[in-house]
Amino acid sequence: MKALVLAGGSGTRLRPITHTMAKQLVPVAGEPVLFHGLRALADAGVNEVGMVVGGTRAQIREAVGDGSRFGLRVTYLWQEEPLGLAHAVSIAGDFLGDDEFLMYLGDNLVLGGLRSMVDGYRAERPAARLLLAPVADPRRFGVAEVGDDGRVVGLQEKPAVPRSDLAVVGVYLFGPDIHKAIAEIEPSARGELEITDAIQWLIDRDLRVSADVLTGYWKDTGTVADVLEVNRHLLRSLVGSTEGATHDSEISGPVVIGAGADVTGSTVIGPSVIGPGAVVTGSRIGPFASIGEGCRISGSAIRDSIVMPRSSIAGVRGLESSLIGQDVEISRPTPDTGGHQLVLGDGSRVGLVS
Ligand code: DAU
Repeated sequence: MKALVLAGGSGTRLRPITHTMAKQLVPVAGEPVLFHGLRALADAGVNEVGMVVGGTRAQIREAVGDGSRFGLRVTYLWQEEPLGLAHAVSIAGDFLGDDEFLMYLGDNLVLGGLRSMVDGYRAERPAARLLLAPVADPRRFGVAEVGDDGRVVGLQEKPAVPRSDLAVVGVYLFGPDIHKAIAEIEPSARGELEITDAIQWLIDRDLRVSADVLTGYWKDTGTVADVLEVNRHLLRSLVGSTEGATHDSEISGPVVIGAGADVTGSTVIGPSVIGPGAVVTGSRIGPFASIGEGCRISGSAIRDSIVMPRSSIAGVRGLESSLIGQDVEISRPTPDTGGHQLVLGDGSRVGLVS
């Protein structure tokens, strides 16, 4: 079985981070979201991957390469514009042929359950098999109605009035009929070719669409709050290790200190990750802090946050629930007039206490 991984799109809800970074590469617990998904595919025995990429294709290609380090063979498929999930399938026609395939949304984190879903699909070979999860606010997702026999009887995409609380998770299994469906549907009101509409087309023609209800963990990393939650979730199973150096510091709970990192005169509370080559002095880090490679943190306190590579934070106490991009500088203003000094890019969001 092949996989189609969707790593294009625009990531508008994660701006300004996604002005310069593919949303699938936002690091959680020290690694891009996408890498966790690629590992899950390899674990499920799906090794031949078509990776749909858009405007951020150079970054994705640089990060993933030929996929061999994940045990995958990756072919890149360029989607010129993010015209929808079904459109992404249509541009992959040559790669997929008439083969059955697993479609994985590259900004989703799904832990566990892929192999049993693939096995379930193989046992009955339906036109499509979906993965569903009950959620508190189904209006943010595709929503499925399931009949008594376990068949999916209806789908809605981000409905104002959801007909169930079962969200469509970003893992789908398809047989070749999905291509016929995609050829027949029209763009939705938001201008996208929706995979939900293509699956509804299958249902309307009485083709079998079945579903698994997710037993493991799932999160769509669409918003900052989601990214931070995924970070906390992954950190909860962190196994501590120290490759870097610590001096006069107190380390408690599971903490990873990467190669070449240096922690001096600081308190690090796990679970937390200090990336390779990061330098931390006189600071209090964690819990739930993921500090990226090459960051410089001094005289600061940071918890429940992600700081991406090469950023520096000096003299700032009380940073929390924050997603900080690459090469960002946060420090006390010079001269210190007692006021806040901000230089923020378009679409930035800052929460100040005073
Ligand atoms: O996360 C699950 C949800 O994903 C489902 O419940 C929805 O039914 C489904 O439509 C989808 O909704 P999103 O609005 O979250 O999709 P998003 O635009 O975030 O795209 C999902 C992934 O696919 C993301 O990695 C970007 C990529 N993508 C997206 C589009 C629209 C592409 O590669 N090409 C595209 O054209």
